[in-house]
Amino acid sequence: MAELKPVYDPIGQHHAIPGGLKQYEEMYKESIDPSTRDEFWRKQSAQFIDWIRPYDRVSTGGFAVGDHAWFVGGQLNVSACCLDRHLATKADKTAILWEADEPGQSKKLSYLEVFHGTCRVANALKLHGCRKGDFVTIYMPMMPDTAMAMLACTRIGCPHSVVFAGFTATSLKDRIVDSQSKWVCTADVGKRGSKTIKLKEITDAAVNDCPNVERVFVFKRTGEHGVPYHARDVHMDLVVPKMRPYCHAEAMGSEETMFTLYTSGSTGKPKGVAHSYAGYLLFAAMTTKYSFDLRDDDVFACVADVGWITGHSYIVYGPLCNGATTVMFESVPTYPDPGRYWQMVATHKISVFYTAPTAIRALMAYGDEPVKKHDRSSLRILGTVGEPINPEAWRWYFQVVGDSKCAIADTYWQTETGGHVMTPLPGVTPMKPGSCCLPFFGVEPKVLDAQSGQEVAWSKGQRADGVLALAKPWPSACRTVWGDHERYMATYLDCYKPYYFTGDGCTKDEDGYYWITGRVDDVLNTSGHRIGTAEVESALVAHPAVAQAATIGYPHDIKGQGICCYLELTKGITESPELLKELKGAVRSAIGPFATPDLLIPVAGLPKTRSGKIMRRILRKVAAAEEDQLGDVTTLADPSVVPLLIAKVKQAQ
Ligand code: PRX
Repeated sequence: MAELKPVYDPIGQHHAIPGGLKQYEEMYKESIDPSTRDEFWRKQSAQFIDWIRPYDRVSTGGFAVGDHAWFVGGQLNVSACCLDRHLATKADKTAILWEADEPGQSKKLSYLEVFHGTCRVANALKLHGCRKGDFVTIYMPMMPDTAMAMLACTRIGCPHSVVFAGFTATSLKDRIVDSQSKWVCTADVGKRGSKTIKLKEITDAAVNDCPNVERVFVFKRTGEHGVPYHARDVHMDLVVPKMRPYCHAEAMGSEETMFTLYTSGSTGKPKGVAHSYAGYLLFAAMTTKYSFDLRDDDVFACVADVGWITGHSYIVYGPLCNGATTVMFESVPTYPDPGRYWQMVATHKISVFYTAPTAIRALMAYGDEPVKKHDRSSLRILGTVGEPINPEAWRWYFQVVGDSKCAIADTYWQTETGGHVMTPLPGVTPMKPGSCCLPFFGVEPKVLDAQSGQEVAWSKGQRADGVLALAKPWPSACRTVWGDHERYMATYLDCYKPYYFTGDGCTKDEDGYYWITGRVDDVLNTSGHRIGTAEVESALVAHPAVAQAATIGYPHDIKGQGICCYLELTKGITESPELLKELKGAVRSAIGPFATPDLLIPVAGLPKTRSGKIMRRILRKVAAAEEDQLGDVTTLADPSVVPLLIAKVKQAQ
């Protein structure tokens, strides 16, 4: 293999790791070696966290029973680490740069303004009875108030549960109920690509079924929602300006729950993945700094939504803890035209830009012109996250968007990991298109044989294929599933003891680089959204026309994975375009528009084993047009369903 060199032209070396790969290797070793790791993490935490009370132990516990804990005995306040500590030197620096849905309507908020705004929101929450330890559900669009609502929660010690504002009332209700939130923050409406999303209306529909909710705090986005207010509603645009712009920052224990975020798994309802204050904040801040070689004058744009973990870590907490300028992008990449991202890069002189492969692939389809007509000379680092990036999209991002001068950070991580667990470091790690390269500090990847759970042997020059586990806790490894530690253990820690199981397939190549090959469980990744097959199936079988449903992912040019649902219709029901449309609608309204199936295929019978288990492997192969690789079908109760299935899929595609 040709020797790889780090590519990072605009400014050369990584500021914090000027010694390149050798220094990374030394630091990495220090971060995991039992004799040096405490000291490594002690130094890192001193850089990012202002301790109210110093901690007694750097880390305790482990993955055996999921009692891993970091900076035990310490106390901190996350909003103070993100805001107060910058006020002496950066009060006037832009903290949040908001790019509104309509181009030309951006707004800048300084660190002092965000500090004041956060304190006022925190005081408004307290005034209405919200107390330390209470859960607050946040169902809000991409506006600065949303970041301030999150920071206000951390200021007064209330765990937040942000629910992506594309979810339906039912999904919102389930999440409010599961976290037992008495308090909900929302906005009148959300704006996206010129569309108006009636958030207050959706929130009302959800909260009407949640008798525990005491107050709904309604922030104003446009003031045009036209929905009646209830006694439980608080008009934040009237209340917030009346509040004092200072609020006491509660001293929170390192290991207390900072937030939960609901995410899909292979079975059952979405689970509330819980993160704790110190470990999460440290890792979000460290990865922002190292993975993107963050500098003081950077304009950092992560164009995800705050409703997902990427927005938590790389729009709000990571950049603000570093005292950086973070961009909040309200719109979509194609509004008003497919040059929107690059026009925004030119206008705000964005230097770090972080998006998902699905957006890159969608924009590639419009050609180079919408990119090239905008000045992108401010760009240094281009990040990607959410799914494996195909080398073709990687090259386009690198060559066209980055003019072959920027480093690409293909950051691999999960809601559960809190921050990047594998990523190249700009100017340090030689990049390979499609590989998330090497582990971040503190992370010990293991490639395991899926069946035996044994580590697959690897040495330089060899490849190892298997499933990916992480051996030891890193600071932001999620701590539990809210209210269900048994489920946490079963999902992550009991599968390949004593490791954390990621649910992803992985190859370690000849150079020791890691390549994520996608989920090996029943989780779909469509346009970077994580969706459990069980959720889609339960939405479908809730319809009287559907007797049984099986959902699988299949290769999709833009989305990465498309959603394909095979259906056995109820006896006496015949298939029609109207019925299929109705069923798509049923999934949309149960989960959200992003979960709309791409293919709905009624079949005479699903391929089942004699014990009645659906053989998804066969369904996947047929949907991917790999029917020549079906493997052994003799264990099927009725092998004759297979040719019928193949014919039906060909017709549907
Ligand atoms: O399959 C992996 C994929 O996204 C999953 C995590 O999804 P979620 O919790 O929604 O978090 C998305 C944002 C962190 C992983 O299990 N994934 C994420 N990043 C990458 C990736 N697959 C390959 N390469 C990546 N860079």
